[in-house]
Amino acid sequence: MKQSMKEKISFHLFIVGMASVLLSASLTTALFHRVFTKQIQHDLALTASDIAAAYDFLPSPSELFLFDNEEIRITLISANGKVIYESDANSVMENHLTRPEVQAALKTGEGFDERTSSTMGYTTYYYALLLEDGTVLRTAIDVENLYSIYNEALPAVMISCIFILILSALLSLFLTRRIVRPIEKMADDLDNIGDTVPYIELEPFAKAIQQDQQTRKSSEKLRREFTANVSHELKTPLTSISGYAELIETGIAKPEDVKSFAARIRKESARLLRLIGDIIKLSELDSADGEPQLAAHFEDTDLLTIARECVNDLQVSAQKSYITLLCEGSSAKVQADPGLITELCTNLCDNSIRYNHAGGKVVVSVQDTPEGAVLSVRDNGIGIPTEHQQRVFERFYRVDKSRSKATGGTGLGLAIVKHIAMLHGAKISLSSTPGEGTLIRVIFPHHK
Ligand SMILES: Nc1ncnc2c1ncn2[C@@H]1O[C@H](COP(=O)(O)OP(=O)(O)OP(=O)(O)O)[C@@H](O)[C@H]1O
Ligand SMILES: [Mg+2]
Repeated sequence: MKQSMKEKISFHLFIVGMASVLLSASLTTALFHRVFTKQIQHDLALTASDIAAAYDFLPSPSELFLFDNEEIRITLISANGKVIYESDANSVMENHLTRPEVQAALKTGEGFDERTSSTMGYTTYYYALLLEDGTVLRTAIDVENLYSIYNEALPAVMISCIFILILSALLSLFLTRRIVRPIEKMADDLDNIGDTVPYIELEPFAKAIQQDQQTRKSSEKLRREFTANVSHELKTPLTSISGYAELIETGIAKPEDVKSFAARIRKESARLLRLIGDIIKLSELDSADGEPQLAAHFEDTDLLTIARECVNDLQVSAQKSYITLLCEGSSAKVQADPGLITELCTNLCDNSIRYNHAGGKVVVSVQDTPEGAVLSVRDNGIGIPTEHQQRVFERFYRVDKSRSKATGGTGLGLAIVKHIAMLHGAKISLSSTPGEGTLIRVIFPHHK
């Protein structure tokens, strides 16, 4: 499911807002609590020292009731822990010697303590002061504890959260618009995406689009060139066919020439058929969306078997050109489409026979190497000049147009070879020296 940017931003803003409200609420409360506790301790100590100053002048400890007030509890405890006076009537009168503040006062002169009653929801702060007569004067005060302070703050925190929720929704709306608008602008003008990309983060995306546009443009150009080339190549044989047919039709051709004209028509038609066959093959191997339309049937294939068959099939045509055609090497198994590999091998051998001298030699060899299974075709023919070596795999590319045409070549053979190799994940290497010969190696990677 696609995510909404607005929702995502809004959610994160809300989380951050909530976290900061809760954090600052807890921190403030904690800080407040600390200051508050200090203040209370100070007040208790002050009250205790006031009472202590007056204590010497009191006729009896019971007179301490004079200092009673609503908030502060006063207790007078003897050195052995017995309660001598207690201002809070409800208080328990058990021995107070165990109380930490009393113990501390007996030891050091004064003592503090705070005890929280979880059930009552308040904390009691105690201050104990050792008097000169050895008794301990204690002041105490009950204060609502931290939890109840939190409880009181809760509505405020809730309101803040709701406020933040609304604020994050609004803010995210605003932010999303601000972030998205430049992207929309960029999308409006994809042709200049390199200049209009608004964020560094989008640069890889922009690059991908640019690359895509470039490949589309260049493949469009290739396609146009291809169409122009095809039309041109079709035109030549058709022109001569219609020329010979016209000669026969109009009776210009002498009756004894008709047979040879018909033979020429047949030859040109054969050339046309071969050309159209090659074009169909190429377009099957390389369709527009990059996925070959042709369903290749990959199976365990021995390159040596195919090379032998191919050499057998071409033996007659090699002999006609006075070429020795041989097959050597050892078995090498690959996952491949046998029909396509035969086509590949035939095209390579055909070239080596065609672009050769009478008495030349062509060797097809198969080897299983650590690098992969290698099918190579070597000849000692005319060779390919260095400047043409990169381009001979292009469609309709011929080094020597006149020679190729004389032998019936259209420049599609190596393009087909290249596509078949690509389909099998095989690499092609070409090395050639004009006047000495050519070696083309097709390397099929080993499958794991
Ligand atoms: N073994 C070779 N020796 C010398 N030149 C070669 C060899 N193989 C290919 N070439 C050169 O490369 C060009 C392209 O070869 P390719 O097989 O693609 O086309 P073609 O042989 O002209 O026509 P097609 O194979 O379609 O009948 C050839 O025209 C030729 O000039
Ligand atoms: Mg060829």
